Amino acid sequence: MARRIESAAFLLTALGNIGMRVPIGWYRPHLETSLALIERATTGRSDAIIDVGGGESTLVDDLLARGYQNITVLDISETAIDVCKKRLGAASEQIHRLVANATVVELEAGVYDVWHDRAAFHFLTAMEQRAAYVRNVARSVKRGGHVIVSTFGPEGPTQCSGR
Ligand SMILES: C[S@@+](CC[C@H](N)C(=O)[O-])C[C@H]1O[C@@H](n2cnc3c(N)ncnc32)[C@H](O)[C@@H]1O
Repeated sequence: MARRIESAAFLLTALGNIGMRVPIGWYRPHLETSLALIERATTGRSDAIIDVGGGESTLVDDLLARGYQNITVLDISETAIDVCKKRLGAASEQIHRLVANATVVELEAGVYDVWHDRAAFHFLTAMEQRAAYVRNVARSVKRGGHVIVSTFGPEGPTQCSGR
């Protein structure tokens, strides 16, 4: 087993070295846990969902496939938002895309039923950034809304995309 993991790590490094896109620690092709939590938190398909630091994840594809109609993907990286747009093709017109920093963006007050963030909050290493993020959550999530934030645990990766 150990040998197999070692070979896999070697293969990923080799593929990365020749410029191929390779899965990294936190990457999952589908965010099943997030989807299940969002399904539990929402009461209808028109509920407003924002995926903060959505990156290149397929969560938005899977939400659209389940019939959700009010989805916003926010990411600080224009590249990530472009990848999402290209991947979705015409369906990308059905979502709101925001290239923005979650700590400084001025989101409308009380609009989101669900705030979802998987593996973005941990980028905020300064206390002021975290406080600003929390203020944005408190402002933009509806009263009675849901906030789903997952970050790396104590045994998770010690680095994310080299940072
Ligand atoms: C580790 S990736 C996770 C992507 C996706 N949520 C997933 O689970 O596969 C973190 C994402 O957060 C974004 N990000 C980092 N800091 C951010 C910030 N301050 N505001 C918005 N997005 C941010 C990064 O650009 C990146 O796309």
